Amino acid sequence: MEDSALREAPFTDARSLGAPEEYADSRWVVMKFGGTSIASRDDWERIAGLLTNRMEAGLRPLVVCSAVGGVSNSLHTLIRQAIGGDPDPVLEDILARHRQLADELDIDADAVIGEYFAELRQLAAGVRLIREASPRVQARLMALGELMSTRLGGAWLGTLGMDLVWADARDFLSATEQRHKNERQHFLSAVCLHGRDPSLEARLAAANEGAILTQGFIARNVDDETVLLGRGGSDTSAAYFASLLGARRLEIWTDVPGMFSANPRAVPSARLLTALHYDEAQEIASTGGSVLHPRCVPPMRRAEIPIHVRWTGRPDLPGTVVSAATPEVEPQVKAISLRMGLTLVSMEGVAMWQEVGFLADAFELFRRHSVSVDLISTSESNVTVSIDTVSGTLEGETLETLVEDIGRLCRVRIIEDCAAVSLVGRKIRTILHRLGPALEVFEEQRIHLVSQAANDLNLTFVVDDEQGYRLVQKLHSSIIGPQRLGEAFGPTWEELQSDERKPRRLPPSWWSHRRDELLELSAAASPRYVYDGDTIRAAIGRLRAIDSVDAVFYAMKANSNPDVLRLVEAEGVNFECVSPGEIARVLELFPGMERERILFTPNFAPREEYAAALDLGVWVTLDNLHTLREWPDVFRGRDVFIRLDPGQGRGHHEHVRTAGTHSKFGIPLFELDELEALAAGADCRIVGIHAHTGSGILDPTNWAEVAGELAAAASRFPDVHTLDLGGGLGIPEKPGQEPLDTGHLARILDELKRAYPDYRLWLEPGRYLVAEAGVLLARVTQTKGKGAVRYVGIETGMNSLIRPALYGAYHEIVNLTRLKEPATEIVTVVGPICESGDRLGNDRLLPECREGDLLLIANTGAYGYTMSSSYNLREPAAETVI
Ligand code: LLP
Repeated sequence: MEDSALREAPFTDARSLGAPEEYADSRWVVMKFGGTSIASRDDWERIAGLLTNRMEAGLRPLVVCSAVGGVSNSLHTLIRQAIGGDPDPVLEDILARHRQLADELDIDADAVIGEYFAELRQLAAGVRLIREASPRVQARLMALGELMSTRLGGAWLGTLGMDLVWADARDFLSATEQRHKNERQHFLSAVCLHGRDPSLEARLAAANEGAILTQGFIARNVDDETVLLGRGGSDTSAAYFASLLGARRLEIWTDVPGMFSANPRAVPSARLLTALHYDEAQEIASTGGSVLHPRCVPPMRRAEIPIHVRWTGRPDLPGTVVSAATPEVEPQVKAISLRMGLTLVSMEGVAMWQEVGFLADAFELFRRHSVSVDLISTSESNVTVSIDTVSGTLEGETLETLVEDIGRLCRVRIIEDCAAVSLVGRKIRTILHRLGPALEVFEEQRIHLVSQAANDLNLTFVVDDEQGYRLVQKLHSSIIGPQRLGEAFGPTWEELQSDERKPRRLPPSWWSHRRDELLELSAAASPRYVYDGDTIRAAIGRLRAIDSVDAVFYAMKANSNPDVLRLVEAEGVNFECVSPGEIARVLELFPGMERERILFTPNFAPREEYAAALDLGVWVTLDNLHTLREWPDVFRGRDVFIRLDPGQGRGHHEHVRTAGTHSKFGIPLFELDELEALAAGADCRIVGIHAHTGSGILDPTNWAEVAGELAAAASRFPDVHTLDLGGGLGIPEKPGQEPLDTGHLARILDELKRAYPDYRLWLEPGRYLVAEAGVLLARVTQTKGKGAVRYVGIETGMNSLIRPALYGAYHEIVNLTRLKEPATEIVTVVGPICESGDRLGNDRLLPECREGDLLLIANTGAYGYTMSSSYNLREPAAETVI
């Protein structure tokens, strides 16, 4: 076992957090561990250490565990598969997952949880037989996840000789009868009795003197049946236990350092919130924060039991404390939350103007269909509400029948795929005037609904899903960033990551090995883009290894430096060009190149460009019917590619999502009939079908979806010989992102090739080949501190690299001169251009920078120099290939 005296940050005294005397002196501590914190032997060793610490301090821990990470989702899938009558490989996965954990713990799985395995098989077989799973059966099946995880963990802790008993949570948590609930809600999102219950303490006292291990998520109803507490149910179970026992504190152990001022995946400069009031924590949790489940807060607030959110991986950090006492100085926005996948119901009709009882009638319908309403905004002739479609308690038909019923009262419209962006903080009304400049970010957005919470804790804007991330980033940097931060704000996510125990940044890159060379090069002249040839060759090699790809066309808009093009060409890669200028550059460098190695993919280009390209003999892609409708003669007798819009765009930012109604690219699928007719009329053969859905995509399944659409469309055009799946292959930009799994991509494409052996497959990567190969080197010119923000200025800015200003793109920045010195300062890195947006990185942790130091901006080989300008008549950085 690891050291039992695991180093833990001290827990703030419950009394100073406002807990009542009796709780502050209680010996009970409830500890909850989520699925990712109980999945391995290391995890259980850590839990053992934490338990020992508490017991040595004279406390009694009651431990509440979830199912092993991923198992609840698998059980869900299992139910779906069984209803569909499919054979269920996932069942074997679930068993194997537990066998593996048992092996790690040296426990005999069959002896300890064999009976659960059998029950799982039986229940699944029953469902498969009758092709249906009642909520009652679903609850029994899902409960097995928690039962199995705690039995295994309990058995192992027992082998350590620890004074611990395993308890069935259903013997202690009783669901309340709630008449308005339907069967599904009754079994799958139950609510339990809570409030201090001395008889429970007495029963547990009879069991032992030490620790208790039990399950989250499950309880029993009055008929002695198993019920579930709904999503995030383990947090809620733990809160119920803490409340019933009158615990000194509730500890939520999780896989992040605590609650943050925004989702750190969207905003790396998000700050840890060290202290929150119950109200704020609940509001952040309900408006999208996923660290704590909102339902666990009210029981704790009522009992005034403090909640401590801690990171299992780093018990030495203090995390977030939620209590009645917060170091409040003045009202502040504490967090920018985001909730995606919202559905709005917009009810419209003149009849509702001054009509008595309209709202009552409408809401009665929501009640009747058990649909819970979240946000509301009303006007004279419209009432719009948001409803929860994500928590899984709403079935498809419910929404349909609800809409049908409301349709009898007024006009009704459903708006799907919305995101709610909320500013959360106490007394938000008193700070509205300070939010003015920040709200400019909404200038261009369509806002479906604005709602200001009656409890004065949030201000929420509902926009299209795809805007969500960007808005959170912008609002965070314009509101939380410049605020005078009180004690409640701790370190940023980036700073916490920078701790040496965690990987500090992206894996080491070529430039850290070639540092001396780079310093020498820039001593001669800076600023400068430097590209590493080997890194480009390696990226090409990874794509080349995919056998089913017949040709790679490099999208040279990413980087058209002649030396880079020579290198790419030498590897046998072809070229994708978007302008006559790009074609000319290729032919200038490689005059004898076979014309079929060049693909021209223009967009809204003038007629002459098509004619010229066809005359040159390169492949030409049409992405609009205008071409064939208005200029049929240009294409008469020619072979062309067409670019389809498969409807769904992806990518790192809305500006680079090149499919879907918001994008100007591609022929929509509903125009295929017309395309067929126009092509026949112009006597032009469609030989290739192409789609490019966006840029910076890390999920390989994107290309499976694209391929499906292309293959379906191709079946209508007998001359098609090539499916061009586009580019868009992303690279990891932020710490924590995983690289694109080219092995997975290869499996997808191989499968496609097997299904359609007659088509040639092409890819058109730009970024993937060159991004990581490039760095931008620039010297520090000046530094300054202004309020809470420190600026480090460098000799070039958005004139060389516009991606941060244009897309909010993140590029790692290091001080190459002081690469080995500890990072001690948080700074904003800016350029010399006359624009406030001339920032290359916000809130970066760097060693103290001095004039003349060389900063390196990483991953700038793609869309760096090619998007540069001489704005302000400042020439962009020059380029060198090494
Ligand atoms: N093929 C077509 C038809 C394209 O439109 C593009 C990029 C590519 C291939 C190459 O995409 P890639 O593999 O590089 O993602 N300036 C933005 C990227 C714009 C991409 C436009 N089209 C950025 O800096 O992120």
